[in-house]
Amino acid sequence: MTIQTANLNQVNPYLPFGDRQDAPFYGKDILSVKQFNHADLNYIFGVAHEMQEMVRRVGTFDMLKGKILTNLFYEPSTRTSSSFTAAMERLGGSVIPINEVRYSSVAKGESLPDTIRSLECYSDVIVLRHPETGSAALAAQYGRKPIINAGDGTGEHPTQALLDLFTILEEMGRVNGLTITMLGDLKYGRTVHSLARLLTLYNVKLNYVSPELLRMPADVIKEIGDKLIPQAEYTSLDEVLAQTDVLYVTRVQKERFENPEDYEKVRGSYVITPELMTKAKSDMIVMHPLPRVGEISMDFDDDPRAAYFRQMEYGLYVRMALLALVLGKT
Ligand code: CP
Repeated sequence: MTIQTANLNQVNPYLPFGDRQDAPFYGKDILSVKQFNHADLNYIFGVAHEMQEMVRRVGTFDMLKGKILTNLFYEPSTRTSSSFTAAMERLGGSVIPINEVRYSSVAKGESLPDTIRSLECYSDVIVLRHPETGSAALAAQYGRKPIINAGDGTGEHPTQALLDLFTILEEMGRVNGLTITMLGDLKYGRTVHSLARLLTLYNVKLNYVSPELLRMPADVIKEIGDKLIPQAEYTSLDEVLAQTDVLYVTRVQKERFENPEDYEKVRGSYVITPELMTKAKSDMIVMHPLPRVGEISMDFDDDPRAAYFRQMEYGLYVRMALLALVLGKT
């Protein structure tokens, strides 16, 4: 189900006074990567760098003291949920965790708009993960406080794309000129939908490697093509591995298959191993939004090109930056 999107750049008029109302992103929802331009990214990543420095120097500080985040997760999460919690607590704020909606009034049939309108009475910002595409936009339509999309079905995962881009910049020193290969479940993987869209702000070449059943959706390919970004589809990684600068591996998302037999047909299609990676450049990186379920062998983890755990740490700084920005604190 796709729900009508809200105005992505709307500043929320109901927020309390006292913070820097003129700050970029103050009171804004973070719903889609489509709302960002180059200047926005530079600004967010500049703040993320400051957050990284502050965490290294002092650990925790009081920038968001007195502010409350609600983490509202209708789907499982380890990284997104815990990194937003860590981000808020590093900034001196606190968190209402609703990671198991079956123990909340959602289990009694409460609608998403009513849940949002209730939780915003107690918090200053809501991070939402939900199984339906468009749910974050729906929440933003009804909510008065900023909504941050932490993954809406197979739609988008904008904060993941921001941390992925930050990772590429930190690890490779640039984005322009890179060949970025996305591998695995490109149909259901919302992280690759968001990242491909965000990368259209740069001069990159995109390769999509997937089983026939899990190809990148046609609407995403059209959007990228409309921005004149070179892109090509493959079923074999061998065809593009040697020229790849960033290999972005994804999990086949078993939970999104309507037919379990289809999942069995494609599971284990690609496995990154040290032996396979002898064919790749020595200065490339391998990323993964995680969790992985066998698509990257643990034998590869000690290779310096394995960037996926560093990627998670970058996510903390990017999410600290986003919380500070939507709450008007920089
Ligand atoms: N990358 C990501 O979204 O991980 P989680 O599902 O653990 O939050």
